[in-house]
Amino acid sequence: MTFSLGEQSALLTPVTVGGVELDNRIFMAPLTRSRADADGTPSSLAAEYYSQRAGAGLIISEATAVCEQANGAYLNTPGLYTDRQQDKWSEIASAVHRAGGKMFVQLWHVGRMAHPEISGFENVGPSPVAAEVQAHTPTGKKPLPVPRALTTGEIAEIVGQFRTAARRAVDAGMDGVEIHSANGYLLHEFLSDVVNQRTDGYGGSPRNRARLTAEVVEAVAAEIGPDRVGLRISPANQAGDMHEDDPVSTYEALLCRIDSLGIAYLHMVLDPSHPAFAPLRTQWQGSLVLNTRRPSGADFALLESLADWGVISAAAVGRAFLANPDLIERLKSGAALNEPDPTTFYAPGPVGYIDYPTLDELVTARSA
Ligand SMILES: Cc1cc2nc3c(=O)[nH]c(=O)nc-3n(C[C@H](O)[C@H](O)[C@H](O)COP(=O)(O)O)c2cc1C
Repeated sequence: MTFSLGEQSALLTPVTVGGVELDNRIFMAPLTRSRADADGTPSSLAAEYYSQRAGAGLIISEATAVCEQANGAYLNTPGLYTDRQQDKWSEIASAVHRAGGKMFVQLWHVGRMAHPEISGFENVGPSPVAAEVQAHTPTGKKPLPVPRALTTGEIAEIVGQFRTAARRAVDAGMDGVEIHSANGYLLHEFLSDVVNQRTDGYGGSPRNRARLTAEVVEAVAAEIGPDRVGLRISPANQAGDMHEDDPVSTYEALLCRIDSLGIAYLHMVLDPSHPAFAPLRTQWQGSLVLNTRRPSGADFALLESLADWGVISAAAVGRAFLANPDLIERLKSGAALNEPDPTTFYAPGPVGYIDYPTLDELVTARSA
């Protein structure tokens, strides 16, 4: 595939989100790569992987657990709740900064998507409603068990864990954090009017279902400053057997509650042709980052138009960044893009991780 951004393309212009000045508006979307050590410390290859992609306006890291129990949807995902993990994230932040980039860490709790054989803990969620999907455990594909409903005391603890992990991220030298409230994981599960069947203050009305995500955003913003906080949502996304019958009211309630905080950005995973896009876009006054999540990958022509019209502040691009460390240079010149190899997305080791060639490397290899 090839695509050439126009010289005047808004996507290539600098932007300030919150307190962070960025060189361009093409962000690297969060991508789980399953290469962390067994104790959740990022791999020794991660600093190289991320710094290779420092041309992104902003790198958003792979989803990172806020506590040990927050893990367990995939094998070998990283965390940010121990000193050893924090030290490795600090090396990554330094490597990305040395390469001229900026980086946020994406923080998650996987909720009902955890499998006990991966996490070592029972899975939890808003209500005892299982996700009808298979987990890739060390002993093969297995159905996810019915989760235990969290108590309000445990919910408060989880809010605190997001806050502490965000502090660790900033102490590690990261430019900020993105709160993962998308794609069927814990915060998204609370938002859903189908999966969340609670009858307490965290269930029922749109405002109540939006409460956990809002409390996490508020706590993290109070800890590290709102201008270093992003929030990812995916209205109507059915990843992880998620269902939402009424996404617009739910997300309107969420955006209404957090609007005045002045966070760095809202990151929406949603096709702009979806009926929920226009009402939610209208509701949000701050910076908007869009990931279109189409099976065929980023539609650069569409994203360029949306940025040029001022509909979005930035575009988040996943698989094209995974396969093209020098994506920005290629989009500027119209050079062909490397194709991502799905067989190495979650495989251990350097192959399909740090060995996608840049244009310069391809030229050198051809002339050798
Ligand atoms: C290998 C892989 C890992 C992903 N991991 C995450 C993740 O950790 N957090 C998240 O919010 N989304 C994750 N996603 C979703 C991407 O951020 C993005 O929404 C999706 O790839 C669609 O964008 P694209 O068409 O530009 O690739 C992942 C997607 C892929 C392909």
